[in-house]
Amino acid sequence: MTDEELERLLDKLTLPQKVRLLTGATTWRTAAEPAAGLRELVMSDGPAGVRGEAWDERDPALLLPSASALGALWDEEFTERLGGLLAAEARRKGVDVVLAPTLNLHRTPLGGRHFECFAEDPELTGRTGAALIRGVQALGVAATAKHYVANDSETDRLTVDVRVGERALREVYLAPFEAAVEAGVRVVMAGYNGVGGHTMTASPLLTEPLKGEWGFDGVVLSDWGAVRSTAGPGAAGLDLAMPGPDGPWGEALVRAVKEGAVPEAAVDDKVRRLLRLADRAGALGGPRATAPPVRSRDARFLLRRAVAASTVLLHNRDVLPLDPDALGTVAVIGAHATRPRVQGGGSAGVFPSAVVTPLDGVRTWLRGRARVVHVPGPSPDAPPPPLDMDLCRDPRSGVPGVLLRVLDVSGAEIYAEHRQTGRQLEPLVVPAAHTVEISALLLPRTTGEWTFGIAGFGRLSLTVDENALVDGDFPRQTDDPAAVHVNPPAHHGRVHLAAGRTAHLVARRELAPGTGRATVVSAAPPDIGAEDSLAAAARAAGEADAAIVVVGTTEHDESEGHDRTGLALGGRQDDLVRAVADANPRTVVVVNSGGPVELPWHTRAGAVLLTWFPGQEAGAGLADVLFGRAEPGGRLPTTWPAALADAPVTRTRPHAGRLDYEEGLHIGYRAWLREHREPAYWFGHGFGYTTWCYEDVSVPAEAEAGAPFTVRVDVRNTGGRAGREVVQVYLARPASAWERPVRWLAGWAAVRAAPGETVTACVRVPARALRHWSPAERAWRTEPGRFLVLAGRSAGDLPLTAAVEVTAPG
Ligand code: BGC
Repeated sequence: MTDEELERLLDKLTLPQKVRLLTGATTWRTAAEPAAGLRELVMSDGPAGVRGEAWDERDPALLLPSASALGALWDEEFTERLGGLLAAEARRKGVDVVLAPTLNLHRTPLGGRHFECFAEDPELTGRTGAALIRGVQALGVAATAKHYVANDSETDRLTVDVRVGERALREVYLAPFEAAVEAGVRVVMAGYNGVGGHTMTASPLLTEPLKGEWGFDGVVLSDWGAVRSTAGPGAAGLDLAMPGPDGPWGEALVRAVKEGAVPEAAVDDKVRRLLRLADRAGALGGPRATAPPVRSRDARFLLRRAVAASTVLLHNRDVLPLDPDALGTVAVIGAHATRPRVQGGGSAGVFPSAVVTPLDGVRTWLRGRARVVHVPGPSPDAPPPPLDMDLCRDPRSGVPGVLLRVLDVSGAEIYAEHRQTGRQLEPLVVPAAHTVEISALLLPRTTGEWTFGIAGFGRLSLTVDENALVDGDFPRQTDDPAAVHVNPPAHHGRVHLAAGRTAHLVARRELAPGTGRATVVSAAPPDIGAEDSLAAAARAAGEADAAIVVVGTTEHDESEGHDRTGLALGGRQDDLVRAVADANPRTVVVVNSGGPVELPWHTRAGAVLLTWFPGQEAGAGLADVLFGRAEPGGRLPTTWPAALADAPVTRTRPHAGRLDYEEGLHIGYRAWLREHREPAYWFGHGFGYTTWCYEDVSVPAEAEAGAPFTVRVDVRNTGGRAGREVVQVYLARPASAWERPVRWLAGWAAVRAAPGETVTACVRVPARALRHWSPAERAWRTEPGRFLVLAGRSAGDLPLTAAVEVTAPG
């Protein structure tokens, strides 16, 4: 549709009609407007999969590896293909706008949504994000760059006012959004937080640089519930307040326009953008674009490849890959081997139709070749996980699962359905609904003290047989939607159960207004005693030819809505690794976390693999790496501290409402370098299954400011198998009139080579890698003179150096 046609459409609408379009019609939809031939636009989170409008296990979605895993790919082409998978899922579910990617940065390892962000480096984040956006939008689905901007931690996220210098804002935090706009992203989400004294939904940053300098012509929508006033966001660059139908705009915005507090031209600009987005989505009269469905086998294969390609091999004492034909018995140890964390907590969550666990993956590989034994080890010491459906039967039908009932005020049943989850997150739109009840017949496999929990706000009760474990009123203390609707606090009780004797569990929550949607029932079996389980694990490892021990975080550690308080693995998991590694030198430790955890035993293990939150094909991709079908392709997208105390930037708690980004430009590896601190593993680090020698680097003698140049790096595969190497190029500027990071990532290229072969990696250094933001001139500048070019395999391992003379443009 041409601009003139858009204007004509706009002219057909009255002020109230226009304003009505600017608040969501529902939680996930925009309003339709028959006068403009406009249908609703459907939105869905993102980024780990496309959940669709329903938060319901009966409507499953493909589950991709977490964003931190995609950051570890260093592979734009592959990331783009994964974006295509999200787009196909969006089409399948009738979704027009995917609320992904998250372009905030790994500013601190404690960030609660670390797993949902790609990297600590703005260049890696920007290029990865742009690739995902291209993949999503190729099928006509809109992607969303979120959360604009400096929403890098969760503590007090609704109110925090981030203070960040103009240079750091431009060069570090805005840079990935600029890359997203260059990639043509159609939607940007304004965060809950504030920057420089302005809440982001009313921030001047929405107009400059976003809409002005960068020329973003799409829609800025609010994070869910982030618009809290009328005139400020109305006059600013915020276009669409989500969710709806209620919100601070509507009638109040119409009044504000009539009273002159908000110019009508501002409303027109918002509506114009919305119509443009709708036009691009095929929502203005045209049929919704369709895409050929992706065959489930193809999707699963791609996701399996993504797991292997993002897995980072931190260290390997010749243990990996394991030779399946040389193994008699393999011990697979750890609670995460059968209950891996495949995704982080919060709004990004989806229900995958099936998950391949690490134990499944290893068993499938070794079927008919070697014996596999599993020992769970001590529990990871979290509050109980959501109800395990394998233990539950619906009390009414007797089939596996639970019974969900809705009761009226007298306690009479008005609705009932069979479900496969103890996590109820959808609004229950049943007239006269007063209470939701989840009940199950639970068949314990172990005798002892079981722990049960119910999470939610309002009046809650939980009984097991005749025992009342929870009974009370738990008023809502937060406005954060992630806590209210997804992850409310849980209340627990314990009861003794006997193995094989069915227990009847009944959990109830009253559905009073303002108590949110979530009701979550959880259960944990008795701990058999850490010492016994450690001994059992060590015994199994000692008797096996190789041990694979899977450890990780729990759903309470890494989630939207709160930051982490430490990086230690929960419970006795560190002791478990030590016991297993001491019992068997051929121990592979698999770390299943979305972000950094402390690995105090890392040099004792035979090999250490990081799988991130690997998504639904977790075990299949892991087994490919373990048994050498695929190399571990990942390289760290974030510097990995040995201990939290070493990390240069950890503060997430605002003081008097302000969070100062005191480190300025020096984020991630730049901070470690500046402070001469040594992490456990540098940004960029990761081994494959062969070895490489960095032989030579060449750069042009001169490069003109504002133009890209190419760095050629010769690398030789010195190992015994073909492999892929991610050749990284960093810049440094030892003598500069400007404050600079010690060095910064300028580009990378992946190469493949056969054993003995030398190949040349051509790394393009974009002009932006040389520029800096000049706050005085409010402009980008490039300082002429000598830049050092460093090439190697991580921010801490750069064996080759060259220099380029940057000249002022001729
Ligand atoms: C999150 C967003 C998400 C939105 C909708 C918010 O709480 O911060 O990332 O897209 O909810 O679920």
